[in-house]
Amino acid sequence: MTQPAAQLDMFGHVLGAYAATAERPMDNATLYQAVAQRAGLGEATVTRVEPVGEAATPRNVFYRQVRWYQQSLKALGLVERVEGKRGVWQLTDKARRDLHPIRRPLKVLAFSADLGVAMWSAAEDVFNALEVPITLCFTSPPYPLRVSRAYGNVDARAIVDFVCQALAPIIERMVPEASLVLNLSNEIFHERSPARSTYLERLTLALEDQFGLALMDRLVWHNPSKPPGPIQWASKTRQQLNVAYEPILWFAKDPARVKSDNRRVLEAHTPRQQALIDRGGEQRTASYGDGAYRLRPGDFGADTPGRIPRNVLRRGHRCPWGDRYRQAAQDLGLPLHGAAMPYSIPEFFIRYLTTEGDLVVDPFAGRSMTGRAAESLGRRWVCTEMMLEYASGGAELFRDAPGFDAPLDPRRLFAA
Ligand SMILES: C[S@@+](CC[C@H](N)C(=O)[O-])C[C@H]1O[C@@H](n2cnc3c(N)ncnc32)[C@H](O)[C@@H]1O
Repeated sequence: MTQPAAQLDMFGHVLGAYAATAERPMDNATLYQAVAQRAGLGEATVTRVEPVGEAATPRNVFYRQVRWYQQSLKALGLVERVEGKRGVWQLTDKARRDLHPIRRPLKVLAFSADLGVAMWSAAEDVFNALEVPITLCFTSPPYPLRVSRAYGNVDARAIVDFVCQALAPIIERMVPEASLVLNLSNEIFHERSPARSTYLERLTLALEDQFGLALMDRLVWHNPSKPPGPIQWASKTRQQLNVAYEPILWFAKDPARVKSDNRRVLEAHTPRQQALIDRGGEQRTASYGDGAYRLRPGDFGADTPGRIPRNVLRRGHRCPWGDRYRQAAQDLGLPLHGAAMPYSIPEFFIRYLTTEGDLVVDPFAGRSMTGRAAESLGRRWVCTEMMLEYASGGAELFRDAPGFDAPLDPRRLFAA
C-alpha cells in the first residue's frame, strides 16, 4: 500500500494531538481543530465536503480522514472511546504499558532537534525516501536471540536477509568515504547446543557479496560490567566461558577513500608513556624477535598529541545519558530498553569516522543514543525506531538540545 506523504503525516498529527492535550479525554471537534493546526491546513481543506457512498451523502472529507486515523490508533490499542460520551476519545492505559510497533508504511516524527530527527517507523520506509547522502550508519540490529527480548526478534536463519534488506537503502545512499558499523551479539547459539551461530560470518560475507562493502575491522567492545552468561552453557553445563565482549563490525564503502582518522580519537598518554616521552624516550639498545624489532636510544620519545586507541573498546554499559533515560522511563512507566548501549560507543565511532556536518544514521535506534551523540558532536542525524515507546522515550535524551521539539512527547503521551 502506498500513501501520499501528507496522509502519512496525518497519522502523526492525530496521535500528536492526543499526546499534546492537557485535558483528556478530548472530543472530536477539539481533535479536528488541533489536527488542522498541527498540519497547517487552511479553511478550504478543513471544510471541504464531498458526496460519499451510494446515496452520495455530502460529508466533510477532512473529518472522515481524521476519524480513519483515530480508528487506526484504536486498532493499535493507543486510543479508546470514552464510554457513554459520544465522539469523545482518550489515550488508553495500555498505551503506557505495552510496546507498540508502527503500522507500516506509516512514519511519524517522534522528536527533532536542530541537527536531526527521530522517526517512529520501520527503517526501510524512511531511508527509501532519504535524499541526503550518508557518511556513517552506526547501529545495533535486533539480535536473533533464542529467548526473545520484549521487542521481538528475527530468527537466526533470517537475520542476514533481514539486516541486508533493511540496510540496502542506506548503503545505496552512502558516500564513497562512508562507513557502516554494526554492533552485533556473539551470544547466539544453535538450538539446545553450546555451539555458536556463524551468522556474523554469514552477514559479513553477504555485505561483501551483495553490496561490495569491505570489512575494515572486527572491533571488540569489552564490557567489564556484562552480567555472567550464557547461563546454560557456562554456569549449568560448564562447557562455555562467561562472555565479556560484543563484536563491532566496521565496513567501508571504499576502503581507499574511507574518512576514518585516528587523530580524532587519540587517547591521553598513560603516565608511564608520558614519563618516557619526558625522559627523551628509550635509553636502551636492544633487539627482539630475531632482529625483527630493534630498540634504539630515543625511540618512543616523540611528544605526540596522544595515543592511538587499540581496537578493543573497554566501556561499561552504564553512562549518565543512559541513567537519565532510565530515570525518565521509570517516572513515566515506560519499558526500559533491554539492549541499551552507552553513549561513549557511538560517540567514538562518530568522531573517528565523520566530521562536523556529516549525516549519521541509526536505523535500529532504540532510545536514539546514536542521534544524541551525533547532535552533541555537531553531526546531522536520522534515527528510526519501530516501537513507539522507545522512539518517543528517546526525547528524554534531547530536552536541552537546541531546537528540541517533540510531537510525540513522552511526558504528554505516557504521563499518568
Ligand atoms: C538492539 S536494539 C537497539 C538499541 C539501541 N542501540 C539503544 O542503545 O537504545 C534494536 C532496535 O531495533 C528496533 N527495530 C527492529 N526492527 C526494526 C525496523 N525494521 N525498523 C526500525 N527499528 C526496528 C527494535 O524495536 C529495537 O529497539
